Amino acid sequence: MKPKLLVTGGAGFIGSEFVRQQADKYTIVVVDKLTYAGDRHRLKTVADQIEFVKADIANVKRLNEIFKRVKPAMVVHFAAETHVDRSIQDNHPFIQSNIIGTQNLVDLSRTYKVKKFVHISTDEVYGDSTSKHSRFKETAALKPNNPYSATKAAAECIIRSAIRTYQFPAVIVRPANNYGLWQYPEKFVPVIILKSLHNQKIPVYGKGQQIREWLHVSDCARGINMILKKGKVGEIYNIGSYFERNNITTARTILDYMNKPHTLIKYVKDRPGHDFRYSVDCSKLRKLGWKPQIRFEVGINNTIQWYTENVTWLERKMDFLQKYWSKVYKS
Ligand SMILES: NC(=O)c1ccc[n+]([C@@H]2O[C@H](COP(=O)([O-])OP(=O)(O)OC[C@H]3O[C@@H](n4cnc5c(N)ncnc54)[C@H](O)[C@@H]3O)[C@@H](O)[C@H]2O)c1
Repeated sequence: MKPKLLVTGGAGFIGSEFVRQQADKYTIVVVDKLTYAGDRHRLKTVADQIEFVKADIANVKRLNEIFKRVKPAMVVHFAAETHVDRSIQDNHPFIQSNIIGTQNLVDLSRTYKVKKFVHISTDEVYGDSTSKHSRFKETAALKPNNPYSATKAAAECIIRSAIRTYQFPAVIVRPANNYGLWQYPEKFVPVIILKSLHNQKIPVYGKGQQIREWLHVSDCARGINMILKKGKVGEIYNIGSYFERNNITTARTILDYMNKPHTLIKYVKDRPGHDFRYSVDCSKLRKLGWKPQIRFEVGINNTIQWYTENVTWLERKMDFLQKYWSKVYKS
């Protein structure tokens, strides 16, 4: 019999990639609130292999009904509010989903004796790296600099304390910036592609000097499965690619691949508290046998092609996005 896996946030960008990759290896139950960022279309290729339950992880009563019925052997917890700009406008939904939701999952996983709990955190909990040459190891201090990463760090502390106090069988994962198919177009890469496709101005914060480490979502999801299978309980694992670029270079590279002029780029007022550089040392995960397989040039071209072919999926979200963009990206 296949192990029973409860996946929170499985209708989101990374969660759905994980579910699509693993649908035939586990009996998967996806629990997702379907916020603006969640979309069941991402799961259409595996819809008859999985069970989907629409539910809010912040609602403990509803979550208890699900755990009682499903009795999962393992949990992979992706569900979260994830966009930094939104957390700067209003952090309360982030506190509900990322902190209260995580506490509920820990409580119920203990009650129903879950054997392994993989908690998806982020490299943003480290804050920004000031040195150009060093990468954060898993032992570095948590120094979140924006409201989103503060809630992710708080969630990690809840997991850490449960590991220590109750021997809770959890592993924490800190991935770098993901890009790839199905990402909601409020994030940097799909914003550039979608705006270029419509020949609209592309907002780049400040002078675009912030450095990000780009990891293909497919490599990230494979890394998470490796950690689910082989990761040691109580440990933390970074997932990165060692491929770092500043944002202006990434924007220009995408424009070049799309045969669009760099004049589409428009510098906008920097995001408050904007972290300068994220960079993680993922040698610990590499020792388990994982390494990234998709080079950026290949991954980004596939991503551009996918968005070009699936522009109707994006355009259904355009009205909502136009309103959002006009609020966030001020000149
Ligand atoms: N995208 C990245 O580059 C990145 C990098 C590092 C870590 N992460 C982490 O990975 C995880 C997944 O990120 P993503 O980019 O796929 O996010 P996403 O925003 O695309 O998807 C989040 C999903 O969670 C669901 N969700 C939100 N609140 C919920 C709630 N209260 N109850 C149930 N479901 C809820 C949404 O409906 C959505 O389907 C998050 O925990 C995020 O912090 C993301």
